[in-house]
Amino acid sequence: MRSEIVVDPAPHAAWLPDGALAAVGRRRVALRLPDLSGPAQGHPRARPDNSAEVTSTLRTELTRATSAHGGAVVDPDDSPDVLLALVPELSGDGFRFVRDDGRVTVTAATATALLHGWFHVVRLREAAFTGPDAEESHAPAFALRVLDHWDNVDVHPVMGQVERGYAGGSIFYADGRVREDLSRVTAYARLLAATGVDRVCINNVNVHAREARLLTDDLPDVARVAAALRPYGVRTHLAVSFAAPMTLGGLPTSDPLDDDVRAWWRRAAERVWAAVPDFGGFVVKADSEGQPGPFAYGRDHADGANLLAEAVAPHGGVVHWRAFVYDHTQDWRDRSTDRARAAYDHFAPLDGRFAENVVVQVKHGPIDFQTREAVSPVLAGMPSTRLALELQVTQEYTGQQRHACYLAPWWSENLGFRPWGEDGDGTAVRDVVAGLGPNASAAVASAGGGGIAAVSNVGDDRFWTGHPLAQANLYAFGRLAWDPTLDPTAILDEWIGLTFAGPDGTVHARVREVLHAVLDDSWRTYESYTAPLGVGFMVRPGHHYGPDVDGYEYTPWGTYHFADRDGVGVDRTRATGTGFTGQYPAPWRDVYEDRATCPDELLLFFHHVPYTHVLRSGVTVIQHVYDTHFAGVERVREMVAAWESLAGLAPGAVGADLHARVRERLAEQLRSAVEWRDQINTYFLRKSGVADARGRTIY
Ligand code: GCU
Repeated sequence: MRSEIVVDPAPHAAWLPDGALAAVGRRRVALRLPDLSGPAQGHPRARPDNSAEVTSTLRTELTRATSAHGGAVVDPDDSPDVLLALVPELSGDGFRFVRDDGRVTVTAATATALLHGWFHVVRLREAAFTGPDAEESHAPAFALRVLDHWDNVDVHPVMGQVERGYAGGSIFYADGRVREDLSRVTAYARLLAATGVDRVCINNVNVHAREARLLTDDLPDVARVAAALRPYGVRTHLAVSFAAPMTLGGLPTSDPLDDDVRAWWRRAAERVWAAVPDFGGFVVKADSEGQPGPFAYGRDHADGANLLAEAVAPHGGVVHWRAFVYDHTQDWRDRSTDRARAAYDHFAPLDGRFAENVVVQVKHGPIDFQTREAVSPVLAGMPSTRLALELQVTQEYTGQQRHACYLAPWWSENLGFRPWGEDGDGTAVRDVVAGLGPNASAAVASAGGGGIAAVSNVGDDRFWTGHPLAQANLYAFGRLAWDPTLDPTAILDEWIGLTFAGPDGTVHARVREVLHAVLDDSWRTYESYTAPLGVGFMVRPGHHYGPDVDGYEYTPWGTYHFADRDGVGVDRTRATGTGFTGQYPAPWRDVYEDRATCPDELLLFFHHVPYTHVLRSGVTVIQHVYDTHFAGVERVREMVAAWESLAGLAPGAVGADLHARVRERLAEQLRSAVEWRDQINTYFLRKSGVADARGRTIY
């Protein structure tokens, strides 16, 4: 590694450096487009994703790859090595991949699907051509695959430009307006198209006064953003304020059953679709953490969501209505209120009342994107509602892109969780959000459920994500959104193969090895030195970085651990606690209810137990806390050492500035892990008075 670090000012290529295109770029590639100039021959020529922009992108991609690597764009009839063919007579969002004697043909019904097929070939690299003959169909598991940006137009005095953003400013906004130069947005859309995400909500779910105006005054600028995303088949959504009819429209009310309010939303939607014909829809955070909502008028969330659904329906739009509704003004002395219960209590009774174009967007856990928490029972409790799973790619509670924490194993656990148990028909969360849950209504099934959404981790940082290795999380989210059954380690390997591809398309073996060593288990490592056994929320209030065991203990936020001298954890049982376990179907309602069967990693999420309680693993709770916290720090030391071992490699194996940035982040991760270890261990030693069986230093 060179000692002097030269920082390249261009945005980092992430998983699409030129080297990633070597295998296709060396070959003869062709694009076959149907003649769409004549009268339509029964195919949906006018579909927005069949746009001229995307076909023109395909041409650009082919030229870019072949001119970088010595291949050529040839005539489709000139026996190309790769033929991409748009066949409007086909149907669906997927593509066909055929390999015949080393030649590849990809066919799809729409330009966007064909683009996804192109990137499939790119991802396979040389293997696209060398495998045995094959005929495969690929289609996304979820119809809706969304990234939500919590970006503010104006810098918010507390939350900044990007709420929970750890990667610099916004790629969409600067200086209180939509950026003039949106080339970075198009580069982002290209990265997303190479994973499978095809929708982006461009503003924060907490819609402040300035941001509310994106819906009205700023539509020309929203249209510019949409135009920057469109070439890669990515559609634009907006987060809107439920109070907009009052704050923007001057009406005296936002009551969802008021005729003027309904008319206002209809007109607002008409204006949006007039400006952005392929606009996707609205995202709403209502009656949540101070955002306005239908409760003010004695209405419920179905009334609220259906109001907007009615307005966007004529345009084919969808409303993502968030289920993140709870009392954030709780009294910590009140043990009967349980934040974990709130989403289910509010939403499950409304099942069947939401319009067909409403998607209820449910955080994966009942609390708030913790490193470990139970899967939300809402996902098993609304068969007649299109449900979306919401994940958090931005690492709010998982190290804020200062800690390396590869989250795909965690997301994969959530997607693969079987709410009706392992013995049933195998239905998992990923099936529910694809519209394939048990008892799914016909409408839910035919819409393919509500799909998946996640909070993006991207900003205007050179590496996009602050921590360069956090790019792997964005990549993995996109891949899981397309195919939630993919193996997280395989996704990581794919990401490494693309991101660290040298000019000839290969990755240095040591780089691959080290990246696996650093990232494969990094989520569990992070878990081991932070809040133990699923109890969650021992973070510093406000910014949520670093340890503060009692930071939230006496606050109104409903996130408590109840540690005292005898024990720790939240009793959520039906027998003696808040009854939250009762929101699950069998067998989980009983598995979680009983300490003896509750999985160790969630024990303190469901139970208040003595420190001497013996886990299923055979160790006591207190000894588990000590052991995992010591071990976690040692794991981080190994991560640091592994990364340092790359320093001697040839320049270019990993870029010098990338190496330096990761080194700096790992140093902070180690400092922080030691801080976590010592505060957690000392806190529990003082509370419990139980010494470490191995006599290690606890302060
Ligand atoms: C968390 C996060 C907030 C965010 C909220 C949400 O509570 O800290 O910044 O607004 O989630 O998902 O709406």
